[in-house]
Amino acid sequence: MKRWAACISILTLAASCDVVRRAEPTATPVQQADVVTVFLTGNELGELKPCGCSGGQLGGFDRRAAILNSAPSQRRFVVDTGSFVAGQTEQDLIKFNMVIRALDLLDYDLVNLTEKDVELSRNLGLLNSIGSLFNIISAQQAADANVPTKFTKQLPLKDEPVTVTVAAFDAKSSPIDQIDRLFANSTAGQSVNILILTGCDSGVIDTIAKSAPAVDCLVCPADSDEPRIISEPNRKPLAFSVGRFGRYVCRLNITRAAEGKLKLDFQSLPVQEKLQQEPALVGLYRDYQQLVKEHNLVQKYPRFSPEGLKFVGSDACKSCHPYEYQQWQATAHAHAYATLEKVGSQFDPECALCHVVGMEYESGFISQEQTAHLKDVGCENCHGPGSEHVKTLGKTKTAGPKSSCLNCHTPEKSTEYAGNEQAYLKKIIHWQEPKAAGNVK
Ligand code: HEC
Ligand code: HEC
Ligand code: HEC
Ligand code: HEC
Repeated sequence: MKRWAACISILTLAASCDVVRRAEPTATPVQQADVVTVFLTGNELGELKPCGCSGGQLGGFDRRAAILNSAPSQRRFVVDTGSFVAGQTEQDLIKFNMVIRALDLLDYDLVNLTEKDVELSRNLGLLNSIGSLFNIISAQQAADANVPTKFTKQLPLKDEPVTVTVAAFDAKSSPIDQIDRLFANSTAGQSVNILILTGCDSGVIDTIAKSAPAVDCLVCPADSDEPRIISEPNRKPLAFSVGRFGRYVCRLNITRAAEGKLKLDFQSLPVQEKLQQEPALVGLYRDYQQLVKEHNLVQKYPRFSPEGLKFVGSDACKSCHPYEYQQWQATAHAHAYATLEKVGSQFDPECALCHVVGMEYESGFISQEQTAHLKDVGCENCHGPGSEHVKTLGKTKTAGPKSSCLNCHTPEKSTEYAGNEQAYLKKIIHWQEPKAAGNVK
């Protein structure tokens, strides 16, 4: 009962309480004053927010706040380990800016810049100013900017404050024996030392365990969406990855055991749909949608020509296939563009791709104004571009690039699809049985 009360008072939202309960599986409840928290995130890879295509998706900067705020600001140290975006396209650069603004709005203490983050910051002219938003570190030594390799924060733990140092290290380019020097000033029992590694095979972990006893935690690059503990149980250092796409937040609770030794407790917390959205970050996503629109990204999407065939739009099929047309119109496919409009993502090529006809092709969807006939998931998504078929009054069979259900109903966007293929197919039956061209008017 007591825990519930504490939970409600320290969280912005009562609904996120089970996050806290999950996070503290120990038998005796930990008093606030007895614990300080390091939060670690990273590898956003451009995923600002899940698409909302089906239920149960994790992630989103707007919901991350609810987890970070579960620890009072004086008692937490919030760290991002970098890798903001996946590529270098125009959209990636917009996202890069957005991630930086998000980390600023979320009050991050420290951000590690990977080699690619440094390069993109430089290209965007941000390398020298980004450090005014939050502290930065990097293993990457930049000649044109003074980016330190470590950062220290003191947190007020009961009896004695604890000093948490986070350093970045590239084991490929620097000798391992330099690591201990990074943590030279730390005192056992009062410090927690965290090393963010750019590469992390088991050989490196073993070597660091032997030659750099000051290291308490190793953060390794992520190879899975969910954070993962890599080291053997109860071994020091605790090696883990922080996961990808912002679907989880890692939480390291630091407490003091009876003998005065510091104890670390690692948890990974899912960023669930039911967590409250932080208004400032909801606003930031709207800014992003606006920028994507202004940059005309759908129009600029790389396109190729489908073997001389053209998309003509579902309405062009109506006159000869009135039955199929009518059946199709009653399916969710026929409203897929309106769905995007409702959430403001109709100008985002990463969304439109599966919600319109032929976006990867020259004659495909460009915009509501220029190609209104190609909105929604239409006949030609599944049957291919129809120009020849229509021109020859149906004598030439439909041909050209077609999408299969699975091309769009991926495990990520359509969590229910796998295993329910027949039920999905049944919902979109629009052909007459027996399936026959003979039924065509
Ligand atoms: C070009 C991408 C694309 C293809 C190909 C595609 N779908 Fe869809 N499908 C969508 C989108 C987008 C929606 C969501 C529409 C909405 O609600 O706005 C959807 C929705 C659906 C729904 C409605 C789900 C519900 O909850 O009622 C069913 C059923 C469905 N699709 C079945 C299929 C089947 C079966 C195939 C293959 C024959 C298929 N889809 C191929 C994109 C696609
Ligand atoms: C890989 C293809 C694909 C992409 C890319 C995609 N969607 Fe979807 N979307 C789907 C499919 C498939 C469904 C239907 C899922 C289902 O019902 O199983 C859907 C459904 C939806 C729905 C309806 C959910 C509901 O409750 O009915 C929304 C909203 C949506 N998508 C928004 C987006 C946004 C926003 C983006 C971009 C950030 C996006 N989609 C990108 C395939 C896609
Ligand atoms: C989501 C994908 C999808 C969409 C959208 C779609 N179809 Fe189909 N269509 C199918 C599938 C799957 C079949 C069954 C094909 C098969 O088994 O050969 C089919 C069958 C048909 C058939 C019967 C084919 C035959 O061999 O007898 C016709 C005609 C047809 N569709 C026309 C249309 C028209 C017209 C539209 C738009 C108004 C449309 N379809 C939209 C997937 C789709
Ligand atoms: C001028 C009339 C006409 C129009 C317009 C038309 N069709 Fe057809 N379609 C036919 C006829 C006729 C057949 C039957 C051909 C046969 O018997 O082999 C047919 C057969 C089909 C079939 C089954 C055979 C095949 O080609 O796979 C599909 C699928 C189909 N049409 C889809 C479409 C789509 C999609 C459109 C719109 C882009 C469309 N049709 C527009 C006349 C038309």
